[in-house]
Amino acid sequence: MSQDELPESTPRDLPIGVFDSGVGGLTVARALRAKLPHESIVYLGDTARVPYGNRGADTIRRYALNAAHTLVGQDVKALVIACNTATAHGMDALLETFPDLPVIGVVDPVAREAASRTDTGHIAVTGTRATITSRCYEQALERLRPDATITSVPCPLFVPLAEEGWTEGHVPEEVARAYLSHLGETSIDTLILGCTHYPLLRTTIATLLDSIMPRHVTLLDSAQSTARAVADLLQERNLLREVPEGTEPGDDRAMMRFYVTDEPRGFMGTAVRFFGGPVARAEHIDITPLAT
Ligand code: DGL
Repeated sequence: MSQDELPESTPRDLPIGVFDSGVGGLTVARALRAKLPHESIVYLGDTARVPYGNRGADTIRRYALNAAHTLVGQDVKALVIACNTATAHGMDALLETFPDLPVIGVVDPVAREAASRTDTGHIAVTGTRATITSRCYEQALERLRPDATITSVPCPLFVPLAEEGWTEGHVPEEVARAYLSHLGETSIDTLILGCTHYPLLRTTIATLLDSIMPRHVTLLDSAQSTARAVADLLQERNLLREVPEGTEPGDDRAMMRFYVTDEPRGFMGTAVRFFGGPVARAEHIDITPLAT
């Protein structure tokens, strides 16, 4: 995709703003680009403040608002919170602060998918400490499937492992075993990877579960379901970009732009792994401070 400026003719032509604490949200951006190839995306990784997952609720809410204000300053038509931790603690504040903008978080879409796919009714949720303590998944799942049993497991070390590229081999296997082996005594058949970093450890987690569980466990991450939710909401609000029929992706001036709040060096190498392909050069951006 080119980095050309878009002709800003209608709100439909504006980009979708996507943010995460760092690179994890690129797993969502990747699914978005696949689902909506004619949409432009502005991605913000708050790399100066990552990780969010070990911080307190008020701090995370403030960071999420900062990131959202920064993207709104880039003139976006929707906000995607591509971070479970920021969704858990910032979603309500963003909905309140930007009432006219579609705001989509990553928790509800994958919770809906889990609630409809489980047969045993027993769902495991993994995530950062802050996501798990927020109980956002329990609340969403209890609404959707009141009979469900939910087992929540904080897995904080998965984030640095994914960032370091240690996603397979002895170290991540042992970490996964330490966090998840107790699930072998449960009836779970569905596990939510409730952190946008965790899809990179999917193979390691799936292999461990295959070895300890009496039944197959379906691993669900937020990426695909969130991309579908974004597509549905943009359609509903008549905000999908219109391109002439037969236009090839990449040939329609849709652009993808990356911003980071720390220096861009270092982001690019990691970003390629999370995005699953080449990414345009990231630019530094200062976070927009909240008005006091
Ligand atoms: N990407 C974040 C999430 O989905 C986790 C990384 C962090 O701790 O900042 O929760």
